[in-house]
Amino acid sequence: MFARTGRVKASPVLDHPALPPVRRHRLELDLARAPLPGAELEARFGWRRWRPELTPVISIVLHESFRSGLDAALIPALATLEGSDEMVRNTAANCRFIPEGAWLIERWQGRSTPALPCGAILCIEAGRGVVQVQTLGVLPEFRGRGLGRALLVRALRSCRALGCQVAQLDVTACNRSAGQLYRSLGFRVRQVFFRRIEAAPGSAIRDPENAPRACL
Ligand SMILES: CC(C)(COP(=O)(O)OP(=O)(O)OC[C@H]1O[C@@H](n2cnc3c(N)ncnc32)[C@H](O)[C@@H]1OP(=O)(O)O)[C@@H](O)C(=O)NCCC(=O)NCCS
Repeated sequence: MFARTGRVKASPVLDHPALPPVRRHRLELDLARAPLPGAELEARFGWRRWRPELTPVISIVLHESFRSGLDAALIPALATLEGSDEMVRNTAANCRFIPEGAWLIERWQGRSTPALPCGAILCIEAGRGVVQVQTLGVLPEFRGRGLGRALLVRALRSCRALGCQVAQLDVTACNRSAGQLYRSLGFRVRQVFFRRIEAAPGSAIRDPENAPRACL
């Protein structure tokens, strides 16, 4: 874990004023007691439960959801489609993967047009009775319509039905929308840590809310 000041080992990357270590929060939820409200979707949106054939679609959704934010610089796998694809494949092949906690939301377009993928979630087992939300992303054009909340609630309910009693996840401290979503469901901060930016963000970070300086 990175200390905030002083004890961070000197490095040309960390010392660069544009690339400070970024504050992250480990959040936890008492899943056994959490009320977890409904996960209803607006008309024309529908659920797809995990199947290996969904890997390419989920990879695209996650990459497109994260590519313009700071998290893509912290977790380089999300910065490229190839990286995202590899991450989804590796996750699904991992013995800790929870297929019941992996969901995709699509929007139906009519009988003759393929459905549009909108958002996805992946979960893994982090320990006995502990589910970790590994990735949650909604495409920018579908945000603010309850899809992120629905994905999280549906995945957590499924994991609770399997016996998970605690849910945890890591979030970048300045990620306001995600932080607000998690808090509203009862997640609380259990640990604060700092993560180094591994890939130079360049012009990829367009969301001012996610500017690295806001996360110090
Ligand atoms: C975080 C994310 C998944 C939320 O998805 P979404 O579909 O827009 O979220 P919802 O519409 O379900 O909103 C759920 C809650 O999130 C919060 N929220 C959503 N957008 C917000 C915003 N712009 N500002 C503040 N809070 C916001 C609210 O609490 C909201 O609940 P409310 O509608 O009852 O007020 C989406 O913004 C996203 O994919 N971001 C990029 C990837 C990412 O950061 N993932 C999380 C990594 S830990």
